[in-house]
Amino acid sequence: MSTQPGKFIVFEGLDGCGKTTQLYMLQQALEAKGYNCTSTREPGGTVLGEQIRRILLDPGPPLNPVAEAMLFAASRAQHMEERIKPALAAGMVVLSDRFADSTLAYQGYGRGLDTGFLSFLNRMAVGELLPDLTILLDIAPEKGLDRLTGPVDRLENERLEFFHRVRRGYLELAGLQQHYLLLDATGGMASLHLEILGAVLRLLGDSL
Ligand code: TYD
Repeated sequence: MSTQPGKFIVFEGLDGCGKTTQLYMLQQALEAKGYNCTSTREPGGTVLGEQIRRILLDPGPPLNPVAEAMLFAASRAQHMEERIKPALAAGMVVLSDRFADSTLAYQGYGRGLDTGFLSFLNRMAVGELLPDLTILLDIAPEKGLDRLTGPVDRLENERLEFFHRVRRGYLELAGLQQHYLLLDATGGMASLHLEILGAVLRLLGDSL
């Protein structure tokens, strides 16, 4: 658990799992109840982070996997310093679309990079801070990729087996950590929202 006055809530899951929509719905609901909320994303969340995001997601030039992992970490370090730490210190509820476990799932389980190296990068970027709650929206890769619209980015270009490995990684990470809430992403938008809102309000010592 974090020792910060605010609360840090992270959404994780495969591309197309619906986390961005759920994050937005959660923010609306929390703000309607009077919570001081901010939403952000990785890679990105800062001016520099959004520049790094463009490099990372550009499907054009090939990107070495170690360079890729370090760029995700660079974006995260900047994000921590500029957005997450100050907002938590100010007592806000911080909602982040992805965080450090995306690196373990995608670069570790997906790309096969050494998890010790990736954990080191994460530690350098975030220190000891853990999310108070990580909501994992689990979905079969076939279904998630099917839901995607718009141009395909570098990661979405990967083969199906890559996403199967990422999914297995996420499920393992969820099984190992107390702060995970594992939900079936195909459960329907409205009922998923209520489940997420209920869990977040419990965390905040509030009720529906
Ligand atoms: P995201 O913005 O969630 O894309 P989408 O809206 O398509 O889900 O994340 C961009 C991509 O970056 C996504 O494919 C996951 C990947 N990613 C990593 O591989 N490692 C990381 O550490 C992070 C934060 C994201």
